[in-house]
Amino acid sequence: MVKLSSFSAVFLFAASYFGTAQALSKITRSGRYLYDSSGNRFYIKGVAYQEQGVVVASADNTLGTPSTFVDPLSNSSACSRDLPFLQQLGVNTIRVYSVDSSLNHDGCMSTFSGAGIYTIIDLALPLNGTFDPTSPAWSTNLLDEYLETINAFNKYDNVLAYNVGNEVVLANGTDITTFIKAAARDVKAYLNSISSSALVGYAAIDGVSNFRVPVANFLSCDPSNTNSAATSIDIYGLNNYEWCGDSSFEAAYAGVEADFAGYNVAAYFSEFGCITSPPRLWTEVAALFSTQMSPVWSGGVAFSYFPATSPQGQFGMVNISADGSTVTTGSDFMLLAGQYGNVTSPPNTPSSGSSSATYPACPTQNSSFAASTTLPGTPNEAACDCLEATFGCKFVPPTSNYSAIVGDLINVACGLLGQAGASCNDIGSNGTSGTYGVLSGCDPTIKLSFAMNQYYELNNMQPQSCSFSGNGSVNPLGASGTAAATAAETSCVPSPTATFVPKLPSGIAASNPSSSSGSSGSSGPKSGAVSLLGGNQMLLGMLSAMVVCVVTGIWTLS
Ligand SMILES: *[C@@H]1O[C@H](CO)[C@@H](O)[C@H](O)[C@H]1NC(C)=O
Ligand SMILES: *[C@@H]1O[C@H](CO)[C@@H](O)[C@H](O)[C@H]1NC(C)=O
Ligand SMILES: *[C@@H]1O[C@H](CO)[C@@H](O)[C@H](O)[C@H]1NC(C)=O
Ligand SMILES: *[C@@H]1O[C@H](CO)[C@@H](O)[C@H](O)[C@H]1NC(C)=O
Ligand SMILES: *[C@@H]1O[C@H](CO)[C@@H](O)[C@H](O)[C@H]1NC(C)=O
Ligand SMILES: *[C@@H]1O[C@H](CO)[C@@H](O)[C@H](O)[C@H]1NC(C)=O
Ligand SMILES: *[C@@H]1O[C@H](CO)[C@@H](O)[C@H](O)[C@H]1NC(C)=O
Ligand SMILES: *[C@@H]1O[C@H](CO)[C@@H](O)[C@H](O)[C@H]1NC(C)=O
Ligand SMILES: *[C@@H]1O[C@H](CO)[C@@H](O)[C@H](O)[C@H]1NC(C)=O
Repeated sequence: MVKLSSFSAVFLFAASYFGTAQALSKITRSGRYLYDSSGNRFYIKGVAYQEQGVVVASADNTLGTPSTFVDPLSNSSACSRDLPFLQQLGVNTIRVYSVDSSLNHDGCMSTFSGAGIYTIIDLALPLNGTFDPTSPAWSTNLLDEYLETINAFNKYDNVLAYNVGNEVVLANGTDITTFIKAAARDVKAYLNSISSSALVGYAAIDGVSNFRVPVANFLSCDPSNTNSAATSIDIYGLNNYEWCGDSSFEAAYAGVEADFAGYNVAAYFSEFGCITSPPRLWTEVAALFSTQMSPVWSGGVAFSYFPATSPQGQFGMVNISADGSTVTTGSDFMLLAGQYGNVTSPPNTPSSGSSSATYPACPTQNSSFAASTTLPGTPNEAACDCLEATFGCKFVPPTSNYSAIVGDLINVACGLLGQAGASCNDIGSNGTSGTYGVLSGCDPTIKLSFAMNQYYELNNMQPQSCSFSGNGSVNPLGASGTAAATAAETSCVPSPTATFVPKLPSGIAASNPSSSSGSSGSSGPKSGAVSLLGGNQMLLGMLSAMVVCVVTGIWTLS
């Protein structure tokens, strides 16, 4: 299983010759377990490592999701400041929730790699950088963002996994699981194409079994029934806070253990550490790393190193002084260090290779699980650009800060189309019926241009019908008439469910492990491609559209 490339062989030689730290062991998944390069089972002894961004409390934000972020892997002096504390905690993994692919991460990543600390990196960003449950889509803007982050981290040896989402699927919106699975498929294909062995993961919110279990099974199933790994995640994370105070396996974990007894890929607690019965004793650590739970789980990530407020109360193991220079630990820190410190030899069975991978049939749809096994295709930037070039009327962002208005404008344009007897089906998707409009994988600005253009054509291409209060502009090079538009759709977009190996957006230089180890330099200029759509703005947009344009049939496919 361990294959050294000539580069890493040379590197290992050099490392031992100069007596420096050993290269980090590559972690691989075999069936439902993780193994290091010596064939020992690998358990995640982790801590969440991200300072909390600004949380705007609102009825739409029941989970307390931040709307800004500070990249925790971009400030090497902060990482060096924290390293001794992470070592004292005894962690081998940190989980980070948002990183900025345009920044340099060399300092932090090599600091942590040198200390044997892996990273689990979530690819989503706050607001428009993540799946929007109110209008789910797997689209070029999100794909590009994900690939740019992977590209920025591909040169490091200590990325254990990339998460394609965190707590995006809720019990009342399981249709979005279809889009998450498509994201896992495309990210996996991309990682394979660059010979990366990083795992593809998803971190789920906890909940009742009849929703939690089918979501997990769907993410690791094979819709083609050929035991193919192509659309499966490698590692499932459950954000689990069921062990409160000095609980017991029977009281806290017996249910979740039984639910996942037959699971097919690796699983871990992507967050744990209940705060409702302080002090946090962390006695769940002993259970999690015991033979009671090792058949299913490969460790977990304690939440959280930095302070984090939540609707349940305050998390956090340390405080950082206002000038950033000093770390003060609290009792949570000491108690967790004691528990992690006692996990010296977690169960080492079964042995590597004895657990083979199977990818079962997908859960069937029912009233508590809505996702279709017909997944959306790979977002196709070339097809979207081809279509956009044909529009006679296009969205022209009036300001650089246009992301907030795109949702509104889509609803306005689609409302007008609805009143005129047309629809926005071509830009919509429905993860329950498995139907995807030809532009469903396009950037929201292109979706908006499509809707504006439809309206313009319906109005015989009168210039004022392309105004949209100054947000639209006539494109003299565009095709004219609805017949031309239909022809363009057919010629530009092969099929909205077509899949292929995605590539980095143009203008982004590929980074790879052998060319850049330890070197400086960011991942190159960000692409100038427009992209946007704020989750909350979108929701508001949908609501106001329903008020302003009392028309149904708006823009999700039926
Ligand atoms: C980086 O972290 C240090 C603390 O070690 C802090 O003083 C400094 O302000 C941080 N720099 C940035 C750009 O945030
Ligand atoms: C699910 O419920 C939450 C609150 O309970 C609500 O904010 C959200 O809009 C709902 N999602 C969907 C897709 O209906
Ligand atoms: C739907 O199917 C899942 C298994 O995929 C099951 O756990 C759940 O109970 C079912 N829901 C209903 C309402 O039957
Ligand atoms: C951090 O500071 C806050 C406010 O003073 C305090 O409530 C909390 O207990 C401190 N946390 C730790 C880990 O020391
Ligand atoms: C760690 O293990 C030792 C020996 O079994 C035990 O005495 C100690 O209480 C344990 N520490 C914690 C924090 O559980
Ligand atoms: C962009 O506009 C939105 C809403 O109009 C506003 O909340 C946000 O602060 C603006 N962002 C910037 C960077 O100006
Ligand atoms: C563009 O659309 C937004 C949102 O509907 C509106 O507020 C604005 O007045 C329009 N025009 C310009 C030039 O921004
Ligand atoms: C989010 O919106 C900003 C502009 O406001 C844009 O720069 C960024 O690319 C967008 N991200 C995604 C994933 O759409
Ligand atoms: C999606 O399709 C399902 C099944 O065909 C249908 O019941 C549902 O209303 C559709 N959703 C929307 C938002 O159109």
